[in-house]
Amino acid sequence: MAQRAIARVSRGAIQANCRLLGERVGAETTLCAVVKAGGYGHGAIEVARAALAGGASWLAVATAPEAAELRSELPEARLLVLGALSEAELDVALDADADVTVWRPDFAELVRARGQALGRRPRVHVKYDSGMGRLGERDPGAVEALVRELADDDRAELVGLWTHFATADEPGSRFFDEQLARFLEVAVPLREAHPGLLLHAANSAATLREPAAHLDMARCGIAVYGLDPFGEDPGQHGLRPALELWTYVADVKLFEPGASAGYGRKWHATEPTHVGVLPIGYGDGVRRALTNNAEVLVGGRRYPVVGTISMDNLTIDLGREPDVVPGDPAVLIGAQGGDRILAEELARRLETINYEITSAISPRVPREYVR
Ligand SMILES: Cc1ncc(COP(=O)(O)O)c(C=O)c1O
Repeated sequence: MAQRAIARVSRGAIQANCRLLGERVGAETTLCAVVKAGGYGHGAIEVARAALAGGASWLAVATAPEAAELRSELPEARLLVLGALSEAELDVALDADADVTVWRPDFAELVRARGQALGRRPRVHVKYDSGMGRLGERDPGAVEALVRELADDDRAELVGLWTHFATADEPGSRFFDEQLARFLEVAVPLREAHPGLLLHAANSAATLREPAAHLDMARCGIAVYGLDPFGEDPGQHGLRPALELWTYVADVKLFEPGASAGYGRKWHATEPTHVGVLPIGYGDGVRRALTNNAEVLVGGRRYPVVGTISMDNLTIDLGREPDVVPGDPAVLIGAQGGDRILAEELARRLETINYEITSAISPRVPREYVR
């Protein structure tokens, strides 16, 4: 290992995942790759490039600085900001020539006013809160009024109408069907009244489970990274995990019975055993809650994490007579030999979702991009 720790990201996997999603939605539906939060920890710019090469036509982010970062490298890309914007952030988003999301009439007016002040004609998407209960207008009548108002005002270009699902990742969820029906009830007549209005609703889970949710554009995040929106094996959907997290064995030490590893002495050797020290910890995004609760691959074999995960190190039990020597590569996420550790496995151990596993990998870990 040339580096203490590295997140290796496969551009080819991202491209292949986008191609697969593009095939799933078909030619009538545009693919928008969601690359917020640094491309879910994979690196926004590189992911964006790979996603565009894989057939995505749009890129979505949550914040104005994220849009500005993409624009600095991708002058032609179609960008959409999904999140709320302060007045100062709105200017940053408009300067980045990103489409913005509106739902409150006062904010829609601010967008038009700031557009005029900046000499731009902002492109806007109206957000309908069909049941997520976060951002967006809940009242269908108010959504219709806002769409009408924007369509009648030359200072802005009305581009889209969208919603977001709360339970698409719960197979068989009735609420998902209800949200889709609620959205279509508002969206279909509005599209008849405003031909060309881009309707979008599906995240990765909805894209994979329900063709009726594809509409004009699918906004896929987690599946682009080859992670399973349902928390299972992404291979079931033909998705390829794009990220691997590697470190190495910095030291191997013999522990006699009773010797402990790490802060708080949360693990003791019960028999003579060797402990490997890996120079990666929660400062890198390997959560402390994995203390005594994870496995690491070395030489293609799984070894348990023992003792407390500290900021910069963790320890693994290599057993009585290990083949492992200092310098051996170690895999926290990814494949080695015939085995692999998925982000979904770590998520299960932590009672969280795979999104949080990769997004938590800190900037201290260099990202290396491979084909
Ligand atoms: C509004 C919106 N659309 C789409 C997505 C993509 O979701 P997923 O990563 O589940 O595909 C997100 C991500 O959280 C989102 O917030």
